Amino acid sequence: MRRLLIAGNWKMHKTPSEARVWFRELKRLLPPLASEVALLPAFPILPYAREAFQDTQVAYGAQDVSAHREGAYTGEVSARMLADLGCRYTIVGHSERRKHHQETDALVREKLLRLLEEGITPILCVGEPLEVRERGEAVPYTLGQLAAALEGVDLQDPRQLVVAYEPVWAIGTGKNAAPLDAEEMHQAIRSALSKRYGEGFAARVRILYGGSVNPGNFASLLSMPNVDGGLVGGASLELESFLALVKLAG
Ligand code: 13P
Repeated sequence: MRRLLIAGNWKMHKTPSEARVWFRELKRLLPPLASEVALLPAFPILPYAREAFQDTQVAYGAQDVSAHREGAYTGEVSARMLADLGCRYTIVGHSERRKHHQETDALVREKLLRLLEEGITPILCVGEPLEVRERGEAVPYTLGQLAAALEGVDLQDPRQLVVAYEPVWAIGTGKNAAPLDAEEMHQAIRSALSKRYGEGFAARVRILYGGSVNPGNFASLLSMPNVDGGLVGGASLELESFLALVKLAG
């Protein structure tokens, strides 16, 4: 019922020229797929993503967006600009933005609204830091982030939202969440979405797992009934590991 999504978050890696070569190779090597593939490179790479992937099975999008629609906001990139470049998805609320750029839940919500206005699907990142998990409060903490970002947000179609559960302690550490712990959280997220938007909606929204996903651990994560794909950092940078992940998803 839910099409798996494998999304590569490139973070601040690769130049536009490097990306262009990589995109060509990916296009050459990518088999026909039942799952969906998306790449989320830095802003300057997006025109090359459009050049390579327009009218293909590969989606692309950005890692962040401005909370403002337009105006004197030096350095910001609007949702309208991203829509014009053909972005299908864009990340909001990544823990690196929350940590290094002091993004609050309220700001994440504004960004999510800007994307929805332009018909771009937000990939909303939520997840707890280590000390919260150690206190046994991972589920309420993460559901709190989810509720705050979706406060008063009207959604009709489950394709309008992707949620990514990314425990902060698993990002870039080589320590992924145990599949059953991920499943517990994904179930809790789906049940919160069900209360907010109804069962039919929640049953169709994709909830991705992110945090040290690699070709060695992805199959066991994907075997969990509520894990609908991955938001992948490090392992999305090399063609070989990215293709291995995509093939595991099928
Ligand atoms: P890693 O896969 O490198 O742990 O990064 C995960 C992530 O932050 C994806 O958004």
